[in-house]
Amino acid sequence: MKELIKRAAEDIKNARLVVALTGAGVSVESGIPPFRGKGGLWEKFDPMEIAHIDSFLANPERVWRILVAEMKGVIDKAQPNNLHKGLARLEETGNLAAIITQNVDGLHQAAGSKDVIEFHGTFAEQRCMDCEAKIPTSEVSLEVIPPRCSCGGMLRPDCVFFGEMIPSEALWRSKELAEQCDVMMVVGTSAIVEPAASMARIAKLGGATVIEMNMERTMLTGRVADYSLFGGAGKLMTGILEEMGI
Ligand code: APR
Repeated sequence: MKELIKRAAEDIKNARLVVALTGAGVSVESGIPPFRGKGGLWEKFDPMEIAHIDSFLANPERVWRILVAEMKGVIDKAQPNNLHKGLARLEETGNLAAIITQNVDGLHQAAGSKDVIEFHGTFAEQRCMDCEAKIPTSEVSLEVIPPRCSCGGMLRPDCVFFGEMIPSEALWRSKELAEQCDVMMVVGTSAIVEPAASMARIAKLGGATVIEMNMERTMLTGRVADYSLFGGAGKLMTGILEEMGI
């Protein structure tokens, strides 16, 4: 592993434009369970039942009760870990241009990262389905479920449910960065969900070196990734920063 950490540090240091693509695995060390695999949220719930726009519209109260019980609680308590802090440090030292994240927990920004593309939106804000007003989740009273906007409209998380489009600005910028980067770090994602997973393929087709960091093999391993570092994201990131001397 030491050799691969050295190689990753070299590749990042010598790169012209580095982009990171992150998934739920980067927040596991902050206490937020992943979606898939052991202990994943989708082991407990069928994603088409609680994370698809049709199921939300069919029974918003049910979806809200589960979202509140299963997500809001853990997200409110979660703190950035060494992976989040490490990516913020790379940005600060000019070694990372932007993060494309599938996560809705806001932990990259909490760690100090500035340029974060929230590909699947955010849970940090709720959106009114009538007047489109956006309200910080921390200011939303959950006495009434589903919660209401001051206009009376129903509130929904400002994240992307299955069956919905990726916000066009997020998709546009992510594709642009993937095409232009010469190194893409792909961290803590199973690379199953599209179009997010395709950002790594676009980077590869654009000639970039794709560095995967994950606890286990994924769809990208040995196919799109040039090399893969297996282990906890926080520990791997700490090793890379040490090698880079930052
Ligand atoms: N360090 C590194 N990788 C980890 C860690 C860790 N500590 N813990 C778990 N992982 C890896 C797992 O091995 C897995 O490959 O993180 C990945 C998490 O995969 P998923 O749970 O499928 O999460 P993600 O890829 O982000 O899912 C994509 O699916 O459900 C939807 O909208 C949701 O954004 C999400 C999308």
